[in-house]
Amino acid sequence: MRALTIAAVLVAMAATTAQAETFPVIQNATVLKECGDCHMAFPPETLPKASWEKIIGNMADHFGEDASIDPAVAAEVLAYHVQNASDVSTVRAATKWRANGTFARITDAPRFQDKHGTCPPEVWKHEKVRSKSNCLACHTTMQKDGSTDANMNFLPANLKSQCGE
Ligand code: HEC
Ligand code: HEC
Repeated sequence: MRALTIAAVLVAMAATTAQAETFPVIQNATVLKECGDCHMAFPPETLPKASWEKIIGNMADHFGEDASIDPAVAAEVLAYHVQNASDVSTVRAATKWRANGTFARITDAPRFQDKHGTCPPEVWKHEKVRSKSNCLACHTTMQKDGSTDANMNFLPANLKSQCGE
């Protein structure tokens, strides 16, 4: 019985791994520097062009912070985000995030909500997470290799399982 259960879990894990989404790794040094200082440099495939125009066009009031950048630098950073936006890029991750609407945040996008909707509030409040936007708390290698594999071993088992892990 136990061996059978383990076998079933392994098969399920293999299936998950095969489908797991991978973001293209951000190589642009300006983007990594300007957008990776306070939080990870988020994958641009997660939001449409119009969202990036709004966000990067108003860095002086960036989610309550003044994150102003030089206009020439902002133009380069915006061009990179637009080129890789969910409604512009044709890579697999972008097509998965493609959706109608302009979202103020990645965490407002339907795909984020689909994938994380079962996580209870205690998870987001956990001292190792603190915010939904702290992708690296769970997807520890996302910046480095684009992986969306989640590692939530820091959470109590009951919370972890509610997130679908
Ligand atoms: C509290 C932990 C946690 C945080 C924080 C978190 N995620 Fe996740 N994420 C998960 C879990 C759990 C899953 C579903 C299981 C899995 O895919 O390993 C998941 C799934 C995903 C998937 C789908 C993977 C697939 O192929 O099905 C993507 C994409 C993703 N997360 C992106 C993000 C992004 C972007 C952020 C930050 C804005 C983020 N996540 C923040 C835990 C988290
Ligand atoms: C001075 C610090 C700082 C810099 C630099 C910065 N951000 Fe942010 N960013 C924040 C804060 C604070 C939040 C809100 C985080 C939260 O709600 O947990 C945020 C949130 C975001 C979000 C929303 C994440 C979510 O919740 O879905 C996006 C998208 C974002 N930033 C993009 C960028 C981009 C693009 C750049 C580079 C042009 C950048 N940020 C540079 C501080 C910064």
